[in-house]
Amino acid sequence: MRADEEGIKEAGAIAAAGGLVAFPTETVYGLGANAYDGEAVKRIYAAKGRPSDNPLIVHISDTSGIEELADGVSENARKLISAFMPGPFTIILKKSERLGGAVTAGMDTVGIRCPENETARRFIKAAGVPIAAPSANLSGRPSPTKASHVTEDMNGRIDAIINGGDCSVGVESTIVDASREIPVLLRPGGITYGQLKDVVPETEIDPNILGSLDENERPLCPGMKYKHYAPEAEVTVVEGGTDAVRKKIAELLERNADRVCGVLTMSENTYDSAVILCAGTTNREYAKNLFGCLREFDRLGAELVFAEFEERDGYGLAVKNRLYRAAAHRVIRVGAAEENKEMDHL
Ligand code: TXA
Ligand code: MG
Repeated sequence: MRADEEGIKEAGAIAAAGGLVAFPTETVYGLGANAYDGEAVKRIYAAKGRPSDNPLIVHISDTSGIEELADGVSENARKLISAFMPGPFTIILKKSERLGGAVTAGMDTVGIRCPENETARRFIKAAGVPIAAPSANLSGRPSPTKASHVTEDMNGRIDAIINGGDCSVGVESTIVDASREIPVLLRPGGITYGQLKDVVPETEIDPNILGSLDENERPLCPGMKYKHYAPEAEVTVVEGGTDAVRKKIAELLERNADRVCGVLTMSENTYDSAVILCAGTTNREYAKNLFGCLREFDRLGAELVFAEFEERDGYGLAVKNRLYRAAAHRVIRVGAAEENKEMDHL
């Protein structure tokens, strides 16, 4: 449905009545339902095929809505809220009694986000209730950054999609746990670690952000333990300086000449006999384009994808966090770092 006044009003009414509505935000499209309606929230998990132990973020149209959702806001939390909300930022706080168990998957904390996107905020306002929403993809697939991605995954499973065009950030919000004394960055996203530290210098970083977890470990951010953002193709990250990366990928293409190969580039590099998509030359552009490119490689039938990567700005951490997961941690470092010996099968 269109992101005009009438469309948004209708979408708000559908959500208020217990329906599921996909809506644009500046990060990725969300799949929203009334956060106070336990049955509607359960339907989100069913539509996505999402494990029930993975909590949802609650979206509000104005930061004044934090009061009824959270129980106690520390001084550091207050600073983060006033610096980054509205924006591509989610804050974890102790939850209030008002929220049922399904939204938070039984945790005693809640993730709260106030998007900057005007359509998102008008939709939440029209619904008249806080909106619980994960990204609007099937569980495990790349997050949707266009309305057409939502249709691909959710057609027939939900009640409405508000078409608000392309998402400007392209990766999900930065999540910070501020329910404890020292804030901890749990998921890098549209707000960089540098920006967080400018506001609360002692902010820490969850070591799981770039690591692969043991099956039995329970991370601070439950979603981090699942295989994520994975396209059909087998993705391998080749990380380092431009020339070394180009040389390594050319070699890999030659070795895999019998397969349909794709390359995701961040330079002018071109390669023979491969499907080439450009993610952009900055990490910020890479973040915006990554999920769409992963979906596009599937559409083009790529079996193997080699992704060029070099850390160039504050968005590098957010890109790496998604890229390493999409690649199931198949990372080859060239240039300064030693090549990973586990990659010999390629
Ligand atoms: O940008 C975004 O954050 C998008 C848009 C739609 O707002 N939403 C999004 O939701 O990415 P989702 O469900 O795909 O990812 C939410 C992540 C999950 O990894 C979940 O485990 C974590 O947030 N999370 C939610 N509540 C939490 C809590 N109370 N404590 C720790 N992690 C939490
Ligand atoms: Mg998600």
